[in-house]
Amino acid sequence: MCGIVGYIGYREAYPIIIKGLQRLEYRGYDSAGIALYDGKNINLSKTKGKVVDLQKRAEQEISLKGYIGIGHTRWATHGVPNDVNSHPHYSNSEDLVVIHNGIIENYAPLKKELQSKGYVFTSDTDTEVLINLIEYVQKNENLKLGKAVQLALTQVVGAYAIAVFDKKKPNEVIAARMGSPLAIGVGEDKKEFFIASDASPFIEYTKNAIYLEDGEIAVIRVGKDIKLRKIADDTLLDPFIQALELNLEQIEKGGYEHFMLKEIHEQPNAIIDTYRGRMLVNEGIIRMAGIDNHLERFLNADRIIIVACGTSWHAALVAEYVIESLARIPVEVEYASEFRYRNPIITSKDVVIAISQSGETADTRAAIQLAKQKGAFVFGVCNVVGSTISRESDAGAYTHAGPEIGVASTKAFTTQITVLILIALKLAKAKGSISNDEYFTHLQELERIPAKVAEALTSDENIKTIAAIYKDSPNFLYLGRGFNFPVALEGALKLKEISYIHAEGYPAAEMKHGPIALIDEKMPIVVIATKKGHYEKVVSNIEEIKARSGKIIAIVTKGDVDVKALADHVIEVPDTLELLSPLLTTIPLQLLSYHIAVMRNCNVDQPRNLAKSVTVE
Ligand code: G6P
Repeated sequence: MCGIVGYIGYREAYPIIIKGLQRLEYRGYDSAGIALYDGKNINLSKTKGKVVDLQKRAEQEISLKGYIGIGHTRWATHGVPNDVNSHPHYSNSEDLVVIHNGIIENYAPLKKELQSKGYVFTSDTDTEVLINLIEYVQKNENLKLGKAVQLALTQVVGAYAIAVFDKKKPNEVIAARMGSPLAIGVGEDKKEFFIASDASPFIEYTKNAIYLEDGEIAVIRVGKDIKLRKIADDTLLDPFIQALELNLEQIEKGGYEHFMLKEIHEQPNAIIDTYRGRMLVNEGIIRMAGIDNHLERFLNADRIIIVACGTSWHAALVAEYVIESLARIPVEVEYASEFRYRNPIITSKDVVIAISQSGETADTRAAIQLAKQKGAFVFGVCNVVGSTISRESDAGAYTHAGPEIGVASTKAFTTQITVLILIALKLAKAKGSISNDEYFTHLQELERIPAKVAEALTSDENIKTIAAIYKDSPNFLYLGRGFNFPVALEGALKLKEISYIHAEGYPAAEMKHGPIALIDEKMPIVVIATKKGHYEKVVSNIEEIKARSGKIIAIVTKGDVDVKALADHVIEVPDTLELLSPLLTTIPLQLLSYHIAVMRNCNVDQPRNLAKSVTVE
């Protein structure tokens, strides 16, 4: 939710900030703004719309000179997306300027108090309240900027990652974090510093980064060490500089029209990266330090609870089927947002797995905090290295999918499933709940999956043809059973997210209890009907749809003839073990939603109203 970028150093700040905002646009993109300090004045430009709109406007209306600047790309919380509500926000004196990602929950009483002291507000945002609170504290207590920001933040309830600049003290920028991510890039010899929601805006300038922890504030000055403190008690901290592994190529489109398409096609390699070094097929070993070091916790667990949101929640559902079937440990899957507020029964004998691509989702974070308070063991499955959930978990495993920039999650999903299959196999082996043969068969087949994903991707042209036929349908139904029921949910979600077509995912047999009423000759129904598992049952479901003239798009195992005879369209995927089939059946559903969205002229990588990383409740 919202991306922030700041620069202080010896280079022109404008191009760095604009490029940085473009890279962070996946976080929010309803408006954007920039403030640059030219050595004398702050020049500020902001607008409703995307970063390209900001660029056009800024280039016309302000001087682009300056070695210090801050920029913002917004996902609206308080106040509609318009020019005035866009960031950066000035204080009343226009000496101070701020960018903010998060929500100040107690902004209303603070605003009232400031109004009673004569402060005037032009926007509807909580952020304008924050910058004026800082100004008020600075003036009233006669404090340096860093101290004023710190003191003001002690009065604030909510989440923030902020950068503040004061034109009266133009040699420094203050950054602080509570609940929203914030990284500081440290340039060579401390000649320049970068502030950003993630490291992508500064990756070509430095590989050294400090990730602020919740409740920390940093005073950043060129040529000086960063002064890092705890906001609450002023403790001076030693900043930990981390070496980044990210490279520029990973965050660029690499010849693809959209990030989403690139990420769909990256899946064969992403899955290999997920199991590389972990799965030693010939030796029959799965190495995962996060599990190895805590094996007893898992084996003695009364149950595993998996918490997640969105696509990660669908991966959790697949994991429920996989873990229960292989390791015979009871699994419950929870929406993190529900779990955190429903006073769940959790004991110290529970293992809680949190799945999160970004590792920053607010509800998932809150769910693991609750689980930890109740004594459960928390295991994080995250993609973003160094992310908050990965740090706050007791142990974990990264998916190693590489940066996922398209807002609709693709490779994160398949790599999450891969990690969870590895965990299930490892636990099953340790428990002796599957035979040695079964164990080896799964390892060998998992190793073949990347090549099979690559084969599934070759159905692209066929899928495009089907997309062209159904792109204007107002509704879609997705059906699957067993391991492929969550895939049906994920297929429907992908379509909704990027093409704005209403779609529902359902367990195929459950169709009879409601959705069947929707079926007529106009209704496209995507049915996952791969061999094995409940094939015959799904074929019966297809017959039921056919009897009501629904249009059937079936995902079938290569060479299938029975479903082919019934369906209007078939998309083939290679044969595999039933338990691994979600890794293949997902692929055509991603491509179908992608092509439909492109044909409907939708913004595939930045769908309306969505954000990649939801750091607010
Ligand atoms: C947002 C994204 C989804 C994602 C969900 C959970 O809604 O748009 O793609 O699945 O958040 O995110 P996480 O980073 O926790 O997996």
